[in-house]
Amino acid sequence: MATWGAIIRGVIATVRGAHKLEGEITLPGDKSISHRALIFGAIADGASHVRGLSPGADVSSTAGCLGALGIEIDGSTIAGRGLRGLRGSGVPLDCGNSGTTMRLLAGLLAAQNFASELAGDESLLRRPMDRVVEPLKQMGASATWPPLRVGGGADLHGIDYATPVPSAQVKSAILLAGLYAEGITAVTEPFKTRDHTELMLGSMGAWLSADGTRVEIHRAERLEPLDITVPGDFSSAAFWLVAGGVVGNSHVRLLGVGVNPTRTALAELLSSIGFRIRRKQPRSEASEPVADLEVRSAGELRAFRVDRAMAAGMIDELPVLAVAATQAAGTSVISGAGELRVKESDRLAAMEVGLTTMGADITAQDDGWMIKGPRRLEGARVDSAGDHRVAMALAVAALVADGKTEIDGAECVEISYPGFFDHLENLC
Ligand code: S3P
Repeated sequence: MATWGAIIRGVIATVRGAHKLEGEITLPGDKSISHRALIFGAIADGASHVRGLSPGADVSSTAGCLGALGIEIDGSTIAGRGLRGLRGSGVPLDCGNSGTTMRLLAGLLAAQNFASELAGDESLLRRPMDRVVEPLKQMGASATWPPLRVGGGADLHGIDYATPVPSAQVKSAILLAGLYAEGITAVTEPFKTRDHTELMLGSMGAWLSADGTRVEIHRAERLEPLDITVPGDFSSAAFWLVAGGVVGNSHVRLLGVGVNPTRTALAELLSSIGFRIRRKQPRSEASEPVADLEVRSAGELRAFRVDRAMAAGMIDELPVLAVAATQAAGTSVISGAGELRVKESDRLAAMEVGLTTMGADITAQDDGWMIKGPRRLEGARVDSAGDHRVAMALAVAALVADGKTEIDGAECVEISYPGFFDHLENLC
């Protein structure tokens, strides 16, 4: 358990321009759903069975924290101990690089009668946590930051909270605290974000209602355990959707991908600018819609605009969307994405530097990018900034670049997609 979340530093990945991409990929389990299955399973009454958990280091961080809180996790089995079964950890909980671990656990642990401290790596400690501390304090919890310390205080009461930033992590933290709070807890967001928490807690018997951007939850007596298979991660599929479209002669099939509509805005935007993406075999897993996705090389691509409302629905996919924009004819403008400055890295800056080095015409603005295309990219030495989504987005850019691209710090793909470079090699 001590090695969970650990990754080796200093790997350089070499990616060459590709003539075509062909093959079938099964994506790793969805990261957001995996975190939730572990955390909610831990407070369910009895054993949950969760197949296909994300193999990434972020989800291992959540498992490690739950282990420190007295929860046994053995492969796909989580020995839930009920809403009051967690045990305080004598040491700070190591959330590694994972914002979802830190923010969701902050909500859950704020409601416990023991105090907890949540720690993480350098990148995570730089990220804003006041966005969860503030509503938790309003619910009567003891919560301070930095460092992030929660719980061990008074009983919680429901609040009616409007989040200033659209964030599924903040919404989920408040809903988790709401499971323990007197009365009703309501969260309203400026734009609807991913609703995996609502779907999963609802399937476990929590009283919860969602109406547009507003969600309400009641205090719970107990949660039913889970027996689910986690769908493939759409945010990981996004790299192949873009790559399959921009590399000529390509035909890529992505099997068993989660297509919850709060996650798939990228696919709709890509289709609207000329990508050829098809959905096949629609089905349902873990209360979530799932399908196989197929992408073929696109013809000429049109430039596009993304505003704040759209950005919230494709927040993790924006780095690879920037790569697509370098191949589209005209000026694409992505705005309303200031949140990218406070992700695992400053993604606006990291992608501007990486793509500029590869010959793209991209300018970072306060809350997005302006990108002029189409541009032929050139292989270069670029830096992941220690950020998994930047590393993978630059690898996709490398597939349409002339010659060889070297990506420094490529080991960070382990955070969400450990098999990424093997899949890339197989498709080439
Ligand atoms: C996530 C929510 C998003 C997303 C992150 C996962 C989640 O973060 O970027 O990768 O699982 O709830 P924010 O809530 O900060 O937007």
